[in-house]
Amino acid sequence: MHNLDVVILAAGKGTRMKSRLPKVLHPLAGRPLLHHVVDLAYQLQARKVVVVTGHEAAMVEASIPACVPSMASAVPDIVCIRQEPQLGTGHAVMQALPACGDDTMVLVLCGDVPLTLPGTLQALLHASQGNQLALLTMEPLDPTGYGRIVREGDAVRAIVEQKDATPAQRAIREVYCGILAAPAQRLRSWLSRVKADNAQREYYLTDIVRLAVEDGFPVVTHCIADTVQVVGVNSPAQLAELERAYQRRVADALLDNGVRLADPARIDVRGVLECGQDVSIDVNCIFEGRVELGEGVHIGAHCVLRNVVVEAGARIHPFTHAEGSAPEEPVRIGTGALVGPFARLRPGAKLGADVHVGNFVEVKNSTLAEGAKANHLAYVGDATVGERVNFGAGSITANYDGVRKHHTHIGADVHIGSNCVLIAPVTIGAGGTIGAGSTVTRDTPNGTLTVARSRQVSIPGWKRPAKPGP
Ligand code: UD1
Ligand code: CA
Repeated sequence: MHNLDVVILAAGKGTRMKSRLPKVLHPLAGRPLLHHVVDLAYQLQARKVVVVTGHEAAMVEASIPACVPSMASAVPDIVCIRQEPQLGTGHAVMQALPACGDDTMVLVLCGDVPLTLPGTLQALLHASQGNQLALLTMEPLDPTGYGRIVREGDAVRAIVEQKDATPAQRAIREVYCGILAAPAQRLRSWLSRVKADNAQREYYLTDIVRLAVEDGFPVVTHCIADTVQVVGVNSPAQLAELERAYQRRVADALLDNGVRLADPARIDVRGVLECGQDVSIDVNCIFEGRVELGEGVHIGAHCVLRNVVVEAGARIHPFTHAEGSAPEEPVRIGTGALVGPFARLRPGAKLGADVHVGNFVEVKNSTLAEGAKANHLAYVGDATVGERVNFGAGSITANYDGVRKHHTHIGADVHIGSNCVLIAPVTIGAGGTIGAGSTVTRDTPNGTLTVARSRQVSIPGWKRPAKPGP
C-alpha cells in the first residue's frame, strides 16, 4: 500500500448553522464533527493529516490537540494550513498540497462529513490502485445541489456543478460525494491548471476530472448506496439527523453484542460504552466519556452516566446521575450495588460491593465500603465510610468551612441516625451510634452512643399564649 496523506477541508463558513461556533466544531456524539473525520484518517493509518482552515481558523486549530485518537495504532502527523481567502475547494486542496508528500496518495475529505466508514474509504483507495483519480459517488433520489458525474458510455468525462449544469446534465442521478483520492503529483499538476471561470467564480476541485481525462488518465469511481455516510452538515436539522444516524449505528452494534436496549432509538452514547454479558438498558439513558457496565448490570430509565465503571450485577435505578472527572478517574459502583432512583454520584465517588445509595443522596469524593447504605436524602462528601455503615436520612458531612475541604472518617458498622451533621474533620469510631439530630464536632470512641443535641424537656402545665378576648 502507498503512503497516504489525508486532506480535510474545513475552511468554509457554514452560514446556515446560524451559529458563532464554526460548523466543523459543532458536536456530534459529544465530539466536534472535525474530530470524527480526523479519526477516520487515524483508522486508515494515514502518514499525515492536513486540515485546511479559514473561517474562525484559530478556533478550529485550537481544537486539534484535543482530538485524541480513539483507536489509532500509529498516530499520524497532523498540521493545519490556512486558506485565506476561501476561493473554492480546488483552491483549498492547492493550499494543502505543499504539506503533502510527492510519492503519496492524497485522500480529500470534508470536515463536515462525519459518518463515512473506514471500509468505504479503503474501497475507494483500492479502486484508485495507487495511481488513478478515484471519486466517491452515489445516486440519491434527488441529486439537486450536487456535482453530477458526466459519462460517455462507461467512462467518466467530467463533474459538472449544479449551478453550471445544463438541464440534461441536471437530470443525471449519479453525483460526486465530495470525497476523492488521487496521486499527489498528478493532483498538483491538475490543480495548477484549474480556473475560476464558472458560475460561482470559484476554483472547483471537481474540475480536475476534466483535466485528468484530457491528460489521458482513467478516472474511476466507487459508488455507495448508504448515503448517510457522505451527508454533510449544513444546518441544525441535518446535524440532528446525523446524530440520530450515528446513535442508531451505536445501538445496533450494542444489540449485536447482546445488550438489551428497551428502545434502540432512545439511547445516546457520546463516547465509549463497553458492556459485559446480559446488560439491559432502559429508555433515554445518556452515556458520556468512558462507561463500563459489567455482567448483568441493569440501567434504569433516564440515567446520565459519564466516566463510570459499574461492576457485575449492580442496578442503577431511574434518574441517576453519575459523573467521574475523567475516563481514568471513573466513578466506581461495586458488584451488586443498588443506586437511585434520583441519586447523584460526583467525581471521586467509589461504592463497594452491595452498597445502597438511594433517592436524593449525593456522594462526592468519598469511598463507601462493602455493604454501606445511605438510602435517603443525604450528603456524603470527602468521607471514608466503613463496611455496613448505615447513614441516616437527612444526615450530611459538613466538609467545607468556607475555605478548605475536610475529611470525615466513619468506622465499620457505625449507625448514623437521621438528620445528623458530622462537622469535618471528624472520626466516628467503629461500631458507634450517633443519635438522630446530633451535630458532631469531635471524634467519637468506638462502640459508643453519641448524642449531641440538647436534652428533651417537657414542661407540665405550660400555657400557650391566648389571643385577647373581644
Ligand atoms: C462540493 C462539490 C460537489 C459535491 C459536493 C458534495 C466542488 C466544487 N463541488 O460542493 O461536486 O457534489 O461538494 O457535498 O468541490 N471548503 C473550503 N474552502 C473553500 C470552499 C470550501 O475549505 O474555499 C470546504 C467547505 O468547508 C466544505 C467543503 O470544502 O467542508 C465543500 O465545500 P462546499 O462549498 O460545501 O461544496 P459544495 O458546494 O457542497
Ligand atoms: Ca456542501
